[in-house]
Amino acid sequence: MTILSIDDLLAAGVRGQRVFVRADLNVPLAGGRVGDDTRIRSALGTLRRLLAAGARVVLASHLGRPKGKNDAALSLRPVGQRLSELLGRDIGFCETCHGPAAEAAVNLLKDGQLLLLENVRFEAGESQNDPTLAQAFANLADAYVNDAFGTAHRAHASTAGVARLIPRRAAGDLLRSELEKLAEVRDPERPLLCLLGGAKVSDKLAVLEALAPHTDVLCIGGAMAYTFLHVLGQPVGTSRVEADRYVDAERVLAAAERAGRRLLLPTDHVVAEVFEADAPHQIVEIIPDGWMALDIGPATAAAYAAEIQTARTLFWNGPMGVFEMPAFAAGTRAVAEAVAASKANTIVGGGDSLAAVNQLGVADRVSHLSTGGGASLEFVQGLPLPGVVALEGSE
Ligand code: 3PG
Repeated sequence: MTILSIDDLLAAGVRGQRVFVRADLNVPLAGGRVGDDTRIRSALGTLRRLLAAGARVVLASHLGRPKGKNDAALSLRPVGQRLSELLGRDIGFCETCHGPAAEAAVNLLKDGQLLLLENVRFEAGESQNDPTLAQAFANLADAYVNDAFGTAHRAHASTAGVARLIPRRAAGDLLRSELEKLAEVRDPERPLLCLLGGAKVSDKLAVLEALAPHTDVLCIGGAMAYTFLHVLGQPVGTSRVEADRYVDAERVLAAAERAGRRLLLPTDHVVAEVFEADAPHQIVEIIPDGWMALDIGPATAAAYAAEIQTARTLFWNGPMGVFEMPAFAAGTRAVAEAVAASKANTIVGGGDSLAAVNQLGVADRVSHLSTGGGASLEFVQGLPLPGVVALEGSE
């Protein structure tokens, strides 16, 4: 079913219309200021186009997980300040996201002005997709735009419930481009290489199951590799393993083998006796008793880098080691450099991998950096995203 775009809304005219835009402005804050503004910058395209066309933009987002309660530390006010700087214009801020005060603030908007609402997750009904809250959002709008790709996997009042109540609804430019780029992982130019890292198999199990039979080469790194190595009978010392996931890891290995796909695991490791940034460490092929792996070793990094050079499509989610600690960052850095040097269509998703490519200064050499962590994983698995499904059937 087709979903309208910003082009469609602009063609029909938005001057004087109240357009409720759901963005994902869930950014890290440090000392009351925005730490990384990538997500705010990513939202600018849609906002600028709507404002230039004379829309009265009512902007909503969540920030953090305040669990339905007001929390001053999670106010969107500092985000609004940064947004205003980036847009180069004043914007309004409303201390609440619905009800008479929000309606009054929206009524004061003039054509081409923007009002940022307070954190929608201060309302308990947001995460419950409460119809009353969805209706309260709908009361603020003539048209609805979802540009919050990072939150599209949540069926919440501001992402799903409200969309159904506003017949004129569309996908924002960021949401559309994310869906287009990530669709290339689902329908790739082959060979497709997926590089999955991170701490827990349990976090990545669904995507591992979906990608193992579909991916030409699946390279696994991060702590989750050690659950796999354990089930293959290799010594893992005190490395973090998930005993309740052994069966799942076996199933993923079997699925890859049945489909004739290659699943690669680390063959050498950077190990330490304690999980500390300055812990003495060494590179080993066999993990000794009492030692834990905190990064892939150089031989593994070189092997993964060589695989990366042969790929035509590449999807990366999750660091290869504890890259926040310099002693255990080399594996992630080597892989990030190989991804940057690759001629493949390279797609990087997820907060940690995004932080890694930013920190390592290779972000501008990646074909697509997704603003969504969980959302990108659900999408590449082929799961419907409620925030996208709710945009269907527009009038
Ligand atoms: C994210 O940071 O992944 C998105 O903003 C979604 O946040 P959530 O996991 O708290 O729903």
